[in-house]
Amino acid sequence: MGKLYVFDHPLIQHKLSIMRKKETGSKEFRELLDEIGMLMAYEVTRDLPLEDVEIETPICKCTTKMLSGRKLGVVPILRAGLGMVDGILSLVPAARVGHIGLYRDPDTKQPVEYYCKLPTDAPERLLIIVDPMLATGGSSIAAIQFLKDRGCHNIRLMCLIGAPEGIKAVQEAHPDVDIYIAAVDERLNENAYIVPGLGDAGDRLFGTK
Ligand code: PRP
Ligand code: URA
Repeated sequence: MGKLYVFDHPLIQHKLSIMRKKETGSKEFRELLDEIGMLMAYEVTRDLPLEDVEIETPICKCTTKMLSGRKLGVVPILRAGLGMVDGILSLVPAARVGHIGLYRDPDTKQPVEYYCKLPTDAPERLLIIVDPMLATGGSSIAAIQFLKDRGCHNIRLMCLIGAPEGIKAVQEAHPDVDIYIAAVDERLNENAYIVPGLGDAGDRLFGTK
């Protein structure tokens, strides 16, 4: 079973509470998602491998540590996942970005794919799928499967809010994928929206309806 990391850092919880408020507008919502994305990326990358390198400071030569080998890829699920990309890139500017376009059919609640473009060397990278909302889990499960079908097997999932049933579904479908999340909410409502959640993340991010 994949691990579930819930981030209870006060800064993340504070910012998330502002995002949840219905009166928070798109500009502030975008800024907060960007900031939380950066704070979460700090933890998601905590175990990246380091290697010894020889450098010279103004004082002397020394051996010190730098990130080694395995490179990072960020894969937002369109649209709302886009809001978490820049926060990660500000910490890891060399990361490549792939995109998976999925929308949830309003009637069936099933994910429908409309776009997929990945870095050519994606299978050699640690890939972090980002999407603020993990509701039924259908979109995340499909996105992970797309990556696996293209030979990628080192995958993590980073979300903002999850419903318990969606988290369980992802863990059962992809037990090799760890999930990083800022909050686990109560449940889904009859329209498969997260309760209390924050509403429709894509619409709030981009000011659409
Ligand atoms: C939202 C959200 C997730 C998905 C979660 O996207 O950003 O991708 O729903 O729901 P699930 O876990 O039940 O699959 P949506 O389909 O609304 O598309 P959008 O980001 O383009 O608005
Ligand atoms: N997608 C969203 O944007 N919000 C939810 O609560 C569920 C799916």
